[in-house]
Amino acid sequence: MRFSSLTLAAMAAAAVIALPAAAQDAPANVTFTRDIAPIFQRSCQSCHRTGSIAPMSLLTYEEVRPWARSIKQRIESREMPPWFIDRHVGVQGFKADKSLSDAEIAIVSTWVDNGAPRGNPADLPPPIAFDDMTKWNIGEPDWVVEIPEPFVVKAEAADWWGNLVSDSGLTEDRWVKAVETKPTEESFPVVHHAVTTAIDPDGEAAFLNEYALGKNGDIYPDGTGRLLKAGSQIRFNMHYHAIGREITDRTSVGLTFYPKGVEPERPIYALHIGDNEDLDIPAGEADIRHDGYYHLKDNITLTVFQPHLHNLGTRQCIEAILPDNSVQSINCANWDFGWHIAYNYEDGVAPLIPKGSVIHVISWHDNSDANRWNDDPRNWAGFGQRSNDDMSFAWLSWFTMNDTEFEAAVAAREAATDND
Ligand code: HEC
Repeated sequence: MRFSSLTLAAMAAAAVIALPAAAQDAPANVTFTRDIAPIFQRSCQSCHRTGSIAPMSLLTYEEVRPWARSIKQRIESREMPPWFIDRHVGVQGFKADKSLSDAEIAIVSTWVDNGAPRGNPADLPPPIAFDDMTKWNIGEPDWVVEIPEPFVVKAEAADWWGNLVSDSGLTEDRWVKAVETKPTEESFPVVHHAVTTAIDPDGEAAFLNEYALGKNGDIYPDGTGRLLKAGSQIRFNMHYHAIGREITDRTSVGLTFYPKGVEPERPIYALHIGDNEDLDIPAGEADIRHDGYYHLKDNITLTVFQPHLHNLGTRQCIEAILPDNSVQSINCANWDFGWHIAYNYEDGVAPLIPKGSVIHVISWHDNSDANRWNDDPRNWAGFGQRSNDDMSFAWLSWFTMNDTEFEAAVAAREAATDND
């Protein structure tokens, strides 16, 4: 076979097994001011500050100290920061990755075990300046589409998940260069996530963008872009979380376009693949697996992986079955219904997958009472559109390449990997 596992050689090389956190050394005299504060600035504070979405602020020593035990537990279980890629399987290297390394987890754990000492105040790094929430990170958009009506989140309310659909108002097809979804300045503390999908006039859906705090929007690489068809609708999948005061939201999606008549060389496609609508999730069972498949007709560079499951989902893996029948894992990610995270590959590691491959999507569900999202473990569960029904598929984004381009991309990747 011309395309063998060699094609994915760079991916295999990336799957280095790291040591578990406990096995790594952390300096013995860890202090908050010198060692911990910089980690929290990078990985926690965008959410953990007054007015943001997390329940408590983690800016100062006084704020952090009472949470030390809980912090240790949440970071060791990798529930915090919310980022669920399995670091021991498949491709590593994502844009906007604020997750902690095993070494950082070891440092924070050691600090907690040592009684969470403050350290020398002079070591404290200067506070970070947070982005102005009203600013579009993609620049001033050409086109803005809001949720259809203002959405009121009462002071006290259960979490709300659901879809809100707006007309895009586009009367001609346009190529999108950048896209960003964002709440308003007032509403960002109640908007846990907002995932936007474009639905074309034929009813075909394509994942557009995902808002989660700290994300900057997607600016597609030069020469690539997304086609948004005239008459498309925008679906906002929202998760609202009440914060004790009534807040009105008007989340919107901003788009910048290529000039009229300019078509990018490489369209980016976003597809849901490996859909399995025949889910059988027996009552009370904890570890139920389903499989889905997608046959690739083109050579691709995979740019984004976003698992999609509902309440009972716990984990999803994707792998490529290559034309020679060898199998390469691409990634696995745990799933928590509270967070919808799109994992954007760094350009230098984005998987190159040859045409004729099959992408295999493997999903796991937990219908036992151990799953905190489970309403009632006595019920059988199956496929459906409501969030208390279940689903399993992966949103993938990619661009295609002809054979010559693909071989060149593989050769360039191998040369880069050999130099490492
Ligand atoms: C993307 C936003 C975000 C980031 C980044 C983030 N958190 Fe959180 N955190 C939350 C939210 C929202 C909650 C409450 C919901 C939950 O528990 O999942 C939370 C809950 C917690 C809790 C549990 C609080 C409780 O009530 O028991 C701890 C501890 C915590 N975070 C620590 C951290 C630490 C430490 C970091 C950085 C290493 C971090 N978080 C990064 C959003 C975030």
